[in-house]
Amino acid sequence: MTEQLLLEQVVEQVRPLLGKGKVADYIPALANVSSNKIAIAITTMDGITIGAGDYLEPFSIQSISKVFSLTAALGLYEEDEIWQRVGKEPSGHSFNSLVQVELERGKPRNPFINAGALIIADLLQSRLGAPKQRMLEIVRQLSCNPKIGYDKVVADSEYQFSARNAAIAYLMKSFGNFDGDVDTVLKSYFHYCALKMNCADLSKAMFYLANRGKTLTGEQLVTPIQTRQLNALLATSGLYDGAGEFAYRVGMPGKSGVGGGIIAVIPGDMSICAWSPALDANGNSLAGTAMLELLSQKLGRSIF
Ligand code: DON
Repeated sequence: MTEQLLLEQVVEQVRPLLGKGKVADYIPALANVSSNKIAIAITTMDGITIGAGDYLEPFSIQSISKVFSLTAALGLYEEDEIWQRVGKEPSGHSFNSLVQVELERGKPRNPFINAGALIIADLLQSRLGAPKQRMLEIVRQLSCNPKIGYDKVVADSEYQFSARNAAIAYLMKSFGNFDGDVDTVLKSYFHYCALKMNCADLSKAMFYLANRGKTLTGEQLVTPIQTRQLNALLATSGLYDGAGEFAYRVGMPGKSGVGGGIIAVIPGDMSICAWSPALDANGNSLAGTAMLELLSQKLGRSIF
């Protein structure tokens, strides 16, 4: 069977799950997205991208942006400078929880929960003159798509309803683990989350994670060892409280966003993006997880 046919089968077999799960509405602008969307795209080691379903329709990448932020920080800081401020462990709490930040004296468990991503955004703010512009350049380059932009409505909506993220940032500041102006860093963070990309863009952008750190255009973005480390963090924390379930069912490093996107990686083989807006109880795309599970079964691939 061709890979194209395989992706189409995956979409059609999972389509009956549409209607289950719930579109995120704690960011009001996200609630307007139709829950009927379903898509998957892969980029294979020969650099070819194929997809099925709504794979060319852009959506809000949300927490998937945390992979790009951490990658950018790795290019700007010594590793110790990053890991003394944020940990590498699964959190065992929801992605936007405050509880652990207080108990663990302002050091977030990992860079993918909101607290950890805010630390990374703080690090980027300190070293980059224009972090929002730089982030756009990075994702445009990685996806080979100069048209990628921010969804201003989503970014503004998040800023309007930022109480929880602001509380997390101020709590970390109270422990001395936040350098910048909270409001400025929040605005940058919300923009990163409000990047609009489609499944094809995201599978291309994540190609370096499958290709020992080398991007689609041949640039060595991170070292092969750093790539392995990023994939390890994605496998253990990329799906938050659903990381164990995702490892069990899908068996790939991955990162989800509340826009319904999930990126996943089979190192040495392909980078993948699945999208369907309705989420499960952990905030991960319900149909997206099912598509990735089916794909891994059909391909007979897992990292475990
Ligand atoms: O800060 C937030 O809550 C959102 N901008 C991102 C959360 C998110 O995508 C969590 N992922 N599943």
